Amino acid sequence: MLKTPFIVALSLIAIPALSSANEPSSLQTGEKLYKSACIACHGTGAAGAPRFGNKQEWAPYLSQGLDQMVDVAMHGKGAMPARGGTKADDATLRAAVEYMASRAK
Ligand code: HEC
Repeated sequence: MLKTPFIVALSLIAIPALSSANEPSSLQTGEKLYKSACIACHGTGAAGAPRFGNKQEWAPYLSQGLDQMVDVAMHGKGAMPARGGTKADDATLRAAVEYMASRAK
């Protein structure tokens, strides 16, 4: 009987703690978009997408600089759909690119 409220209380404590404390909030915004959309391809490498956290696969993109990466993310390229197929605004999209880039360094 006590189980359910306990789990609810636990998740209320655990969820904010898990979502990368101490990071600038734009990275948190980016993480949210990444997890809701970009992960579909960048989590698994589907369609040949550079995989999340894979330094080697991101290196050629990172070497172009963040602005170029954001530009491609906005307009799309090959199997990469414009804005990752979302309606994210520029700032949110940039945050998602920054988030992925920050995990691939
Ligand atoms: C349908 C699959 C798919 C989804 C969803 C997707 N991507 Fe991609 N993405 C790709 C592929 C494939 C590439 C590699 C494109 C290439 O190099 O030809 C790529 C490349 C990129 C690059 C590197 C672009 C460059 O050339 O500098 C960035 C940045 C990027 N994606 C960001 C995102 C973001 C942010 C999201 C979510 C909002 C997202 N992607 C969602 C498939 C996807």
